[in-house]
Amino acid sequence: MRVDILTTFPEMMESFFSTSILGRAQKKGHAEIVLHNLRDYTTDKHHKTDDYPFGGCAGLVMKIEPIDRCISHLKSQREYDEVIYTSPDGAKFDQPMANSLSMTQNLIFLCGHYKGVDHRIREHLITKEISIGDYVLTGGELAVMTICDAVIRLIPGVISDETSALSDSFQDNLLAPPVYTRPAEYNGWKVPDVLLSGHEANIRKWEFEQSLERTKLLRPDLLDK
Ligand code: ADE
Repeated sequence: MRVDILTTFPEMMESFFSTSILGRAQKKGHAEIVLHNLRDYTTDKHHKTDDYPFGGCAGLVMKIEPIDRCISHLKSQREYDEVIYTSPDGAKFDQPMANSLSMTQNLIFLCGHYKGVDHRIREHLITKEISIGDYVLTGGELAVMTICDAVIRLIPGVISDETSALSDSFQDNLLAPPVYTRPAEYNGWKVPDVLLSGHEANIRKWEFEQSLERTKLLRPDLLDK
């Protein structure tokens, strides 16, 4: 999968994408993440990416030209499945959306800032708008990092144990069962006996029951889906 990200703060995202599982995913060739500084696509001498809004309200609005020039440049090189803008107005991001985005080939993400982007960009260039929750962030970068993290880890081979991505919380609308590691007893706090029994069928049954119980207790809304 190739992901192109348009931002005015590439430095905020660089270390995130080059660290840990996402960094390894790129080294192993499962994902290519390319950050584009929108300032590089400006034509004025001050490299302005934003301007005052028509109508006199407060705040700054991201200009069309650098965004259009960057997207046109990318589209001249390959076809994109989606051009995504992250905004609190968008469809709420969830696991099914992560699953379906993980099956695409090429994605563009636009990180918004200030009061937002000139609305004509959303009307003419954006194909999908995504929100990561009902709250307002200072910019779209954190939202794009969140979405890319959830999507890229689902690409086969990115997580060494592929079954672990499938047993995550929210796959099948169930929360994940509790997990434990050594020592089997600490301060008198014991790991459930069944996990030490070596009886595979009983362990799987226990995990399923735990998932169901935790979902009923913590997220009963998931069971209605
Ligand atoms: N930009 C600002 N707030 C956001 C949110 N909640 N989701 C996605 N992008 C955003």
